[in-house]
Amino acid sequence: MRDKQPQLNGAYYGPAIPPVEAPRPRRHRNCCCCLFGFCWKLLLAVIILLVLGFLIFWAVLQPRAFRLQVTDATLTQFNYTSSDNTLHYNLLLNFTARNPNKKMGFYYESVESHVSYGGVRFASAEVLTLRDSFRQRTKSTDRMSGVFTGHYKTVVDQDQVKKRLEEDEKKRVFDFDVELHFKLKFIIGDFNSSSTKAKAKCGLQVPLSSDGKTPMATEFASTNCHVHF
Ligand SMILES: *[C@@H]1O[C@H](CO)[C@@H](O)[C@H](O)[C@H]1NC(C)=O
Ligand SMILES: *[C@@H]1O[C@H](CO)[C@@H](O)[C@H](O)[C@H]1NC(C)=O
Ligand SMILES: *[C@@H]1O[C@H](CO)[C@@H](O)[C@H](O)[C@H]1NC(C)=O
Repeated sequence: MRDKQPQLNGAYYGPAIPPVEAPRPRRHRNCCCCLFGFCWKLLLAVIILLVLGFLIFWAVLQPRAFRLQVTDATLTQFNYTSSDNTLHYNLLLNFTARNPNKKMGFYYESVESHVSYGGVRFASAEVLTLRDSFRQRTKSTDRMSGVFTGHYKTVVDQDQVKKRLEEDEKKRVFDFDVELHFKLKFIIGDFNSSSTKAKAKCGLQVPLSSDGKTPMATEFASTNCHVHF
């Protein structure tokens, strides 16, 4: 009690008042604590600001992946001759890429595609090369196409593939898996991002085109692909 009173009225008694030795280390510790606390608060504030900034950026931009669709597929030849283990094929795929974003554009640098049948990758083609790379504006759709033609030497010795091929030949509809590898940039205003990669996968059922004698089994139905970054 006695100790505290002079402190309370300290202003009246001037500098002669004693609380000298005891509080010093306490004040030191307080300062250390307060510096630590300040740093901690600053760090917290910076983190909150960053998260907030990111959320606002995300909310304003609402970035979404492009949508890829196979609009048309023309298969004029797909046959396997076991005498020389060769697969002859002639396939044309028409794609459309749609940018659903309001604020973000894409710059497609190159697109490579691979087609497989029954797990056997037999054809590759460049859908887009650096030479014809292009910028896709917001809310717009662009076309691309891939031409796969040639022959592929393979030994279709897996019973599954052979059986499937026989069945598909009867139906005159073939199941293909198409994988596309995109190299692209994001465009936001005047800012270009660095190149990134994206992948797309499409599972297609492609009817063999009419050869004049036999009519086409079905029409090709346009198919959406799964795009992921
Ligand atoms: C398979 O393709 C070859 C090469 O074009 C052709 O000569 C042959 O008749 C075709 N076979 C069938 C069963 O369509
Ligand atoms: C598909 O692509 C080919 C080659 O680019 C083109 O000639 C053809 O007109 C396209 N077909 C459709 C339906 O867009
Ligand atoms: C983005 O990059 C591409 C190719 O790298 C370039 O042609 C284009 O002008 C750039 N766009 C902007 C807005 O900087």
